[in-house]
Amino acid sequence: MTANSGAAARRERGGTVSTKRGIVVLDFGGQYTQLIARRIREQQVFSAILPCTASLAEIRAQEPVGIVLSGGPSSVYDKDAPVCDPKVLDLGVPVLGICYGMQWLTHTLGGKVEAAGRREYGPAQLALERESKLFTGLPSCLKVWESHGDHVVGLPQGFHVSGKTENAVAAIESTSRKFYGVEFHPEVNHTERGAEILKNFVFEICDAKQNWNRAGFISETVEAIRKQGEGARAICALSGGVDSTVAAVLVNRAIGDRLTNVFVNTGLLRRNEFEDTLEMLRDRLHLNVIGVDASERFLSKLRGVTDPEKKRKLIGNEFISVFAEEERKIAAASQGLPVKFLVQGTLYPDVIESVSVKGPSAVIKSHHNVGGLPEDMPFGLIEPLRDLFKDEVRQIGRDLGLPEEILVKQPFPGPGLAVRILGEVTPERLEKLRGADAVVVEEIRRAGLYEKTWQAFAVLLPVHSVGVMGDGRTYGNAVAVRVVESLDAMTADWARLPMEVLERISVRIVNEVPGVNRVVYDISSKPPSTIEWE
Ligand code: XMP
Repeated sequence: MTANSGAAARRERGGTVSTKRGIVVLDFGGQYTQLIARRIREQQVFSAILPCTASLAEIRAQEPVGIVLSGGPSSVYDKDAPVCDPKVLDLGVPVLGICYGMQWLTHTLGGKVEAAGRREYGPAQLALERESKLFTGLPSCLKVWESHGDHVVGLPQGFHVSGKTENAVAAIESTSRKFYGVEFHPEVNHTERGAEILKNFVFEICDAKQNWNRAGFISETVEAIRKQGEGARAICALSGGVDSTVAAVLVNRAIGDRLTNVFVNTGLLRRNEFEDTLEMLRDRLHLNVIGVDASERFLSKLRGVTDPEKKRKLIGNEFISVFAEEERKIAAASQGLPVKFLVQGTLYPDVIESVSVKGPSAVIKSHHNVGGLPEDMPFGLIEPLRDLFKDEVRQIGRDLGLPEEILVKQPFPGPGLAVRILGEVTPERLEKLRGADAVVVEEIRRAGLYEKTWQAFAVLLPVHSVGVMGDGRTYGNAVAVRVVESLDAMTADWARLPMEVLERISVRIVNEVPGVNRVVYDISSKPPSTIEWE
């Protein structure tokens, strides 16, 4: 029996989860594309996002029971308008086009799309014109959320209008082919009962089965890794962050101590972070972890270096060589079981960001590869989280019994404090930054803001300024405090902290951290700034 037919047999027996036979969302670059997949998964049906440029074979490999065509910023008549292979319309499964997706569907099937006389952004009233499976159980009038400049003015053959807003055709369908289009966004919360519209598509029209839930995901994933990892060892570069820890715990469940985790102290971690995290991973999560204190190596490489990119590269390369050395030691001691797999905590957004239609994020993310390991390492990858979103990973972590402190931990960059020390990284400057950083985090926690903000940290500036302490003049360092709110780090805004919190942070840093006599608060958003200073 092949692996595939095995999976099929498991599905037939029912009750198990599957990332197949769900809904494929083809991404035309819309800002809500991820939300569409989320809404579908909330119905316990798996949903994968593929770029609109995905080949028919890639789409077929998902065995979809339905296709959603996402929105997007373009007009179908633009020169570079994104398109997908029209043969997706011949797959024999229902299709729902949303906004641009509906316009592409219309245009491709011979209908007509035009620039709207009046653009519709924001709320609109949808009036349903006739019975439609898509709107089963819904009232004939709904408040919907629109965001488009074009609309459908001529229907393709076999289509009829099922709903209108004041200005435009808002819903069309061809019941015989099971093609549906809506001009508005059912996936956003502002659309009244939008989730039910998607639910109708998924169940009433595509006849999808509920095959996706967390408990099932965990058992199925553990089982699959157990098979994949039979007779072999795996290694994982653990950082103590949510993603790598959840991935390691899942793999550990499957193959136990045949997974060796390597946690490297780069000397660029926060105060007590190495010891505390190591203890947590070993003693509380019972993972097989090797803690490697490579601080000296990193710091000596960084001596005299001030250029941000150079710092990042040196740290990245050093990380790889430390990891490779550990890997060789593990392999040498492996008693006939070869190290065959590398475990990574890659998430769904990481996967789709790198393949998205226009993907501005690809550039921004290119430097986030310190944990990304050498491509020439001869390993298969185990990436158990690559179908999940961050909050789903947190939930899985919760289901696996991980301590809350790991699950809510704020992100920390691979190059660590080195990108928060402007200028040279020295032990003295690291000590200063650690002191200031500890105050920021403590006060943010004390104010109940740790979980409400994306990141909170201190930055040591290469600036000295004059101050006065006691009776004497000082000439000390300035520290910047950065606290941002964000959903995905692609954009961020500075947190409007209560004045009392800012005050406590400032007073404590100046009093408790020798050599710092000035604190400033960073009030820049991303873009145009970045979250980190380097
Ligand atoms: P920026 O500074 O680009 O950061 O706005 C966006 C998010 O990514 C984190 N970051 C990194 N994470 N390796 C990482 O693992 C890196 O090299 C890196 N640089 C930035 C940053 O902390 C923020 O959350």
